[in-house]
Amino acid sequence: MSTITDTLRSNWAVMISGTGSNLSALLDLDPVLSVGLVISDKKNAYGLSRARRRGIPTYHFENNDWDDLQNQLKRYLIDYIFLAGFMKICPENFLKNWSGRIFNVHPSLLPTYPGLKSIERSFNDKAPMGVTIHEVTPAVDKGLILLQRKIVSTDTLESSEFQIHISEHRVVRRVFECYKK
Ligand code: GAR
Repeated sequence: MSTITDTLRSNWAVMISGTGSNLSALLDLDPVLSVGLVISDKKNAYGLSRARRRGIPTYHFENNDWDDLQNQLKRYLIDYIFLAGFMKICPENFLKNWSGRIFNVHPSLLPTYPGLKSIERSFNDKAPMGVTIHEVTPAVDKGLILLQRKIVSTDTLESSEFQIHISEHRVVRRVFECYKK
């Protein structure tokens, strides 16, 4: 039976490619949050198991079939999309359906260190490190920045990675709380 809180929730799709620790951080937010669909381009992504354990529908995105993905998003009445470690680049044709409604978490202080291996590259350069939540636009990692959090620099790559992940989990939750209906 649905409750008033249910109708007040936004319905999110979370797109992943791997572990899904950010997805997990989001799922721990209930009842503020409603994740209506988890999508992965990797059939065996651990994040899919996390979703299934909670009874959330999952969809394996394959063959770069962005039209089918769009149909699934419609079918599940999705309001917003969050890319939480989704490693494919979304094409412009797909993004035009989601303008202002699709966000990404990135492990650097954008605009510095866009793209891949951002943690490693910023650590090696001894540059300021942190995380960014931004809108997804056709220009990769260049969309409007919603939130950034700097981490305290550490001596090892491993501990910096750890701090980045902890910080990511905090900021993704903040963004979801801001976008609840
Ligand atoms: C996160 O660190 C996220 O910032 C990064 O992938 C990781 C996914 O971890 N995303 C990117 O690098 C996107 N360019 P998770 O699967 O444990 O959430």
